[in-house]
Amino acid sequence: MELYSLDTKAHDEARQGEVLQSPNEGKNFDKFFLVESYGCAMNFADSEVVASILENNGYGATRDLEKADLILVNTCSVREKAEQTVRKRLTEFKKLKHAKPSLLVGILGCMAERLKSQLLEQEKLVDIVVGPDAYRTLPELIAEAGTGQKAVNVILSRDETYGDISPVRLDSNGISGFVSIMRGCNNMCSFCVVPFTRGRERSRDSFSIIAESRDLFERGYREITLLGQNVDSYYWNNPETNLSVTFAELLSSVAQISPLLRVRFSTSHPKDITDEVLYAIAKYPNICKYIHLPVQSGSTRILQLMNRTYTREWYLAKVDRIREIVPECSISADIIAGFCTETEQDHQDTMSIMEAAQYDYSYMYFYSERPGTLAAKRYVDDIPEAIKKRRLQEIVDVQWTLSNESNKRDVGKTFEVLVEGNSKKSELEWMGRNSQNKVIVFPKDAHSIKKGDYVMVHITGYTKGTLLGVLKTN
Ligand code: SAM
Ligand code: SF4
Ligand code: F3S
Repeated sequence: MELYSLDTKAHDEARQGEVLQSPNEGKNFDKFFLVESYGCAMNFADSEVVASILENNGYGATRDLEKADLILVNTCSVREKAEQTVRKRLTEFKKLKHAKPSLLVGILGCMAERLKSQLLEQEKLVDIVVGPDAYRTLPELIAEAGTGQKAVNVILSRDETYGDISPVRLDSNGISGFVSIMRGCNNMCSFCVVPFTRGRERSRDSFSIIAESRDLFERGYREITLLGQNVDSYYWNNPETNLSVTFAELLSSVAQISPLLRVRFSTSHPKDITDEVLYAIAKYPNICKYIHLPVQSGSTRILQLMNRTYTREWYLAKVDRIREIVPECSISADIIAGFCTETEQDHQDTMSIMEAAQYDYSYMYFYSERPGTLAAKRYVDDIPEAIKKRRLQEIVDVQWTLSNESNKRDVGKTFEVLVEGNSKKSELEWMGRNSQNKVIVFPKDAHSIKKGDYVMVHITGYTKGTLLGVLKTN
């Protein structure tokens, strides 16, 4: 799941192989680790937990391969391509061990969980294997691997949330940060490997979520994204008071930290997003008017095979409800082309639901069968790759038109923009986002603005995926 791209291109996997900088890089450590992360925002947030555990155990983060004593690859299993990319990387890292035999290579995350000890015992690609719920044991596993033992821990937990660990913010712009509010998923969408790699759903103590969010705000952060595979089913029961906290309540509490702190969240399963959540979004100006609402398919028959538990009509009624309660809300989706038995008519239904829902943008994939999932067990992956790709391209084209129209409607409007930094193309321009999560670029001119400021920007035009504007000074 890629959270912040406005691109309407198809994604093979979300983010690929990023080595991020620790704010503590350059401090005095005896040993160094490098963590390369793939996959969804939750995996990137986990790398920050891992960095915290390692820095507390004497390992400093580095982005320099030659300096690293330990290379960790935090992996994604959501599509086959994601796993192939990681295997290639692990083969390259194995070669580095010839030049530096003391180097340890470890695999973390969903691929570690899915393949368990296979990459260590059979394929001999790594020294350490750690599943998503076992990161606290990393220091012991590193010590074991250092003495040549097999270091594997892929035990999934029913209660681990890493709630007490203060993540080291890797590669942060100092303005936007992720806060994990839950782990795992109980939904069992038939195409999806996540319930198997991340285990049962569990919610994190709301006090630690609010404390972490407040701490970020006090350190200058101005936007946090509450993360979970299915945030709307967040539910935490306080054992002391026996009072429970729902997602709507959590969202409201985080919004009350400061009106200057923007709050985002991802991902919402359509079946779980309640009116209470929508009313909270409408009530607090600092809860962003943007909902990522994956649809996956526009055909009720395919949705049933996917075990998504809603129909086309039910989904569209939810979209109407969002627009009724939060009229200025932007909506994006995840879409899968070419799921098992998908006909041309099912495919047309997907394109027509995109038009009906008027997505501002989408993340689009073609179906990739994952071993062990319900779909792999029950259905035949019977759509030829060429057809999957053609349908995906048609879906991308529809989204391209919708995104263009959405941007065109914004020309002439004025938005509040949180300034995140220089634009990608020029140091003479600022880049930021509006509440609807659209990227907005505008000239710096002579105004004294800095990162983290809120400014009003008048939209004058757009390019692919970006709104262009000018600062409104009065
Ligand atoms: N929890 C989120 C939800 O329910 O929408 C999304 C999690 S998943 C990691 C991100 C997206 O990857 C899914 O929404 C789906 O579109 C896509 N995806 C998951 N499994 C896939 C598969 N086997 N083949 C292609 N795309 C897949
Ligand atoms: Fe996967 Fe469905 Fe859970 Fe999302 S809700 S992580 S798609 S099983
Ligand atoms: Fe990938 Fe695991 Fe996230 S499979 S998308 S890294 S939960």
